[in-house]
Amino acid sequence: STELPLVYYNDDKKSFAYPTIHSRWPKIIQGAINDVQTVINENSNLESSGNVIVSQLKALLKSFKDDELVRPFTEEEITNSKEDLKSYNQLLIKHDAIKVKHFNQHITWQNGPWLLLECYLYQYLNNIIIGQGSIEKYWTSFDIFKALKDSTFQQSEFGVLELLNKYYKLSTELNASTKEIGSEEKFLLFKDFIDVSLWGNATDLSLLAGNITLEDIKSLQGDEIRKQNEKNILVNDISSAWEHLKINKHKRIDIVLDNSGFELYSDLILALFLLDFKIVSTIVLHCKTIPWFVSDTRVVDVHTIFSQLKDESFFPQIHQEHPEQIKYLNQRLADVVKDGQLKFDDHEYWTLGDSYWDLSSNPIAKSLYEELLHNSSLIIFKGDLNYRKLTGDLQWDKTTPFKVALQQLASESKLPVLSLRTCKADVVVGLPQGINESLIKLYKEQGNEIGEFWSSSGKWAVISFSDGK
Ligand code: F6P
Ligand code: MG
Repeated sequence: STELPLVYYNDDKKSFAYPTIHSRWPKIIQGAINDVQTVINENSNLESSGNVIVSQLKALLKSFKDDELVRPFTEEEITNSKEDLKSYNQLLIKHDAIKVKHFNQHITWQNGPWLLLECYLYQYLNNIIIGQGSIEKYWTSFDIFKALKDSTFQQSEFGVLELLNKYYKLSTELNASTKEIGSEEKFLLFKDFIDVSLWGNATDLSLLAGNITLEDIKSLQGDEIRKQNEKNILVNDISSAWEHLKINKHKRIDIVLDNSGFELYSDLILALFLLDFKIVSTIVLHCKTIPWFVSDTRVVDVHTIFSQLKDESFFPQIHQEHPEQIKYLNQRLADVVKDGQLKFDDHEYWTLGDSYWDLSSNPIAKSLYEELLHNSSLIIFKGDLNYRKLTGDLQWDKTTPFKVALQQLASESKLPVLSLRTCKADVVVGLPQGINESLIKLYKEQGNEIGEFWSSSGKWAVISFSDGK
């Protein structure tokens, strides 16, 4: 077999990995330090355990700066938390050998493989926090990013309201209508709600640490802007996904979620649309088991968003001015959960350090895989990180077919995969010839120093499908 391309590395100045290690990660960690500090200030009983956390976070910042070797997880960390950390140690060994072979260097924070180290970083942070759980129980369920997730969602009230009205109008019209909805009309709506969920991904909080502002994020949440952005979808396989759904015997869509807050809300709207229009009978949402890439969804975040939508003080304008609409939405959500049409699940496979290519062969994923293989019609992967994991975050030529980049996941696994991703990293595949070159040029002309960073800007997107056959 021909050799695969290498992964992206943190010392590649043309990769978004470079500003990531030098600026984005330090800002994310500093934000975490500040939040823990706030907790300590408000709860004096957490002072000594909290100070341990703060000092370990500061040590981590220093290890970025000093470009230390990335250490394996210790026996103690592995037994304290979970077996999955062992697989990180194996990956570190594997990638260290590759780094030595190609560059004659060992893996450090500043030169290591971007994807692996970024995943490792969130596991490492989690260990720091739960490590204090044995001292103060408070920390066992502490989400270091919760304050940021909640406040950003609260500031999305306008986008939330717009989607609420869109959904309410459509769903109530559907209830009142007696005529059958044509397949063409259904497809157009499907496309529209897929777009809602796609651009919902533009609001990922880890980007707040980069050059995107909250204003930019909010500006991406409206209906109008979504229509304008249609031309920025560089690959759009949505018709193939629709054809696949129509002939598939199962009636269930699985969504491997990305961010909580506004994106999760947009995914819930998509889920309700799919259920209301009887496109499928069940939706399963797949969550992370630990705080992950700042804003990713855990099962508790789903419950949190349900209560936030019900909370008049959280979204005062919506409750005062659109009480009927928000009641309708909350009732629908409660009903579909009660009837088992909307389910949530979490699994530690989603927070390992490598690609998703081994979903059908990794022992850790065994039950998850069987479940997907036998019951799901389509697995939707949301967001940038999931896309990086689908494609292995390799330096693929950007015209590489999506199926080639999925490797065994496109062949051996037999799973139908649909990725909805706004591009926030280097890897992109499936582009027509010449597009990458012209976007590099365009992005430079727009005043950006590194043209290659068009693909990390969050302004373009891809909708890619693989039927699993
Ligand atoms: O590129 C910025 C980044 O934070 C990456 O580190 C990560 O892959 C991604 O964005 C997270 O975005 P998303 O929430 O869409 O997966
Ligand atoms: Mg995310």
